[in-house]
Amino acid sequence: MEKKGTILSGMRPTGALHLGNYFGALENWVRLQNEYECFFFVADYHALTTGYENTDDFKDNITSLLVDWLAAGLDPEKCTLFLQSSIKEHAELHLLFSMNLPLSWLYRCPTYKDQISQMKDKNITTYGFLGYPCLMATDILVYKADFVPVGEDQLPHIEMTREIARRFNFLYNTEVFPEPQPLLTKAKVLPGLDGRKMSKSYNNTIALSDSPDVVKKKIMSMVTDPARIHKTDPGHPEVCSVFAYHKLFSESIINEIEQDCRKGEIGCVACKKKLAENIAQMMTPIYERRLEWLKRTDDIRDIILEGNKRARVIAERTMDEVRKVMKIDWI
Ligand code: TRP
Ligand code: SF4
Repeated sequence: MEKKGTILSGMRPTGALHLGNYFGALENWVRLQNEYECFFFVADYHALTTGYENTDDFKDNITSLLVDWLAAGLDPEKCTLFLQSSIKEHAELHLLFSMNLPLSWLYRCPTYKDQISQMKDKNITTYGFLGYPCLMATDILVYKADFVPVGEDQLPHIEMTREIARRFNFLYNTEVFPEPQPLLTKAKVLPGLDGRKMSKSYNNTIALSDSPDVVKKKIMSMVTDPARIHKTDPGHPEVCSVFAYHKLFSESIINEIEQDCRKGEIGCVACKKKLAENIAQMMTPIYERRLEWLKRTDDIRDIILEGNKRARVIAERTMDEVRKVMKIDWI
């Protein structure tokens, strides 16, 4: 099949993926691998920008991320999976971009300002963290990606990538770098178990690595509409996280659940049981494939070695062009 262009995206290996990550990104990647030439990579350099102090879990986190990807359906026959730090061209291009990247662009970046004020407990007032968007631009441009599927929070980084490409092309009077487009999908938003944003730091996640039993327990302990004390009390699904989950997992019976809740004809326990069943139906196959891949870490290593090889060919080709137009190819 004719592919619709090149796609590149990455995730930082920061621990087990949760359902929020799955619906926000991974599910979409699995679909995209059929339509585009896709490169998906583990952004381990990026993980260092905020987590440089303790790298003890680093390798386990990378393995766990790859296991999640493969279990969710990324297929190394259809897409290229690789490790950022294996391709040294990322580091080289990052250095070269840093020579002409105005500091004001980096200080102005909204994600930089947000993170600096949010992560007061971590010392991230570093050169590396300030350069996060520069590194991300490198990832994208070294493969000359046409499209970058990301969440809305990453849009400023894509915009800066386009500016970095434009600036480079202008300075060296070249057309080496095309300007990539973000690929925003209507991501399905799944709140955390407590109704806030699903996030590891809130301890309100369902991980892809949670066993079906654990998932069930988590669902059964969710807080529902506080106005309902008796089963027959009329409920307000709009304030209930269980209902928000049903919207994603129980599409075919969603109207029925809403009406039964409002009329006080279904109890919260029964309602949650139904949800737990539907979630299990979707998650159990992923969980089982996860267990299989966990036994095959040598094969996963081979998959990455192979992906690295494919990625490297492209990155090396781009760097040859870059050195040539910058005249740093004396030898
Ligand atoms: N910054 C991205 C995130 O936190 C991860 C990432 C790093 C990325 N490099 C990238 C995403 C290149 C897309 C393209 O989600
Ligand atoms: Fe929430 Fe279901 Fe209880 Fe209604 S019946 S409040 S949707 S758990």
